[in-house]
Amino acid sequence: MADRAFQVCINPDCAATFGITEVLFSCPKCGALLDVGYDWDRLAVPKKMDFFEHRWATKGLRSEGRLDFSGVWRFRELMPFAEPESIVTIGEGRTVLEQNDRIGREFGMKSGRVFLQYEGLNPSGSFKDNGMTAAFTIARVLGRNRVACASTGNTSASLAMFAHKADPEMQGIVFIGSGKIAYGKLSQALDYGALTLQIEGDFDACMKRVKEVADRLGIYLMNSMNPFRLEGQKAIMYRILEARDWDVPDWVIVPGGNLGNSSAFGKAFLELHKLGLVPRVPRLAVINATGANTLYTLYEQRGVRWDGGRIRNKSEIDALYRDFDSRGYKAHTIASAIEISRPVNLPKCLRALDVMNGVVREVSDEVILEHKAMVGRYGFGCEPASAASVAGLHLLRDEGLISPDESVVCILTGHELKDPDATVKYHTGIDMKSVMPPEPKPTHGKLANHPIRVADNLAAICAALGEPRVE
Ligand code: F0G
Repeated sequence: MADRAFQVCINPDCAATFGITEVLFSCPKCGALLDVGYDWDRLAVPKKMDFFEHRWATKGLRSEGRLDFSGVWRFRELMPFAEPESIVTIGEGRTVLEQNDRIGREFGMKSGRVFLQYEGLNPSGSFKDNGMTAAFTIARVLGRNRVACASTGNTSASLAMFAHKADPEMQGIVFIGSGKIAYGKLSQALDYGALTLQIEGDFDACMKRVKEVADRLGIYLMNSMNPFRLEGQKAIMYRILEARDWDVPDWVIVPGGNLGNSSAFGKAFLELHKLGLVPRVPRLAVINATGANTLYTLYEQRGVRWDGGRIRNKSEIDALYRDFDSRGYKAHTIASAIEISRPVNLPKCLRALDVMNGVVREVSDEVILEHKAMVGRYGFGCEPASAASVAGLHLLRDEGLISPDESVVCILTGHELKDPDATVKYHTGIDMKSVMPPEPKPTHGKLANHPIRVADNLAAICAALGEPRVE
């Protein structure tokens, strides 16, 4: 099976291919992002999507039953890059699609049209588990025992949870920005025993540093530029189709941060369409927070597009980033999960917008919080960033782009309890963050694992990782 999977550069002018066990996070020839590609003609792909239904009659948790139990691996024929025995799974992806007519009515939608996909019901409380199961599988194939990520919180929680499940000797290392992480997420990274480095900087600074450090120290990178992560995240789309009895919705709406999810959704539908497994492709709406609106600016205001593999108006990307540098601009939003100004998956997301005839919108923090409260009042709740999708639906209804009888799935990416401070503040006006101690205090817990504060500096970070000689 694995010999029919490979890595391939997304730039069609290059299209260089590499083996799946080559550790690469961008194309060594042209610098573009990589996809996992498959030789579909030599693989046994089901003829119809309802093939996957028989796996609900799972055979216990041994052997293949273990994979059927996973909401990712029960679709393994659509991401066939690893042998079943190498797969690392913790029972991720058993999430819920809820028809929510009450919220639909708020926006003048007909009944049976609005669906909420609760990815917060994953074991670590966010959609990231869909991708981590795939990334840990490849880390195990590669025999890696140190893995790292930069994170606004959820990636770190998921990585930390998977690390000791994959291998008791595996060390999970997470880079988080200072004061930029919801407490629910920080508490998870600490509790699951990850080496937690709190860098003096924001997510973008953490992303830059973790790439450098991974490269220098041979630590395996688990952020979403790792193409295997996105293979797992395709399963969110498969589950939505499954829950709708394989009926393709008209729209999928998702918050946009580092743009891994939107990229994965585009790839999922590109492949399903090519394989003849869906009659049509839904439209995609990616929703930015106003304070972290790089994609919105580039796509809706500056005409940056995926154009048969080339990026139209590419110079606008460099111009925007130069402008960020010259102004010392930093993203800022209450939706800390998506507080990102330089999304690493931008080109893949542009491809997804092309494949899914997409649009991008921005919504303010105030609007995000109102819609988060709505999901709490009428649904199962979600964290602030997730509510951007419901706020985006509201906006697109007001614009008339989505009509009352179209079917819409909003992806709720993270659990409500990830960021209880935001909820308490909305309902009471009390800012819990300001009443919590900013400095870790000594503790007597036998397994206590406090974060290590580090300057935004390569040598200091390597020293904190026990490698003091790196300059
Ligand atoms: N929603 C939540 C709850 C997230 O945690 C993230 C990303 C996103 C949306 C954005 O998804 O990056 O695929 O566009 N969180 C990352 C992290 C960045 O580090 O946990 P995306």
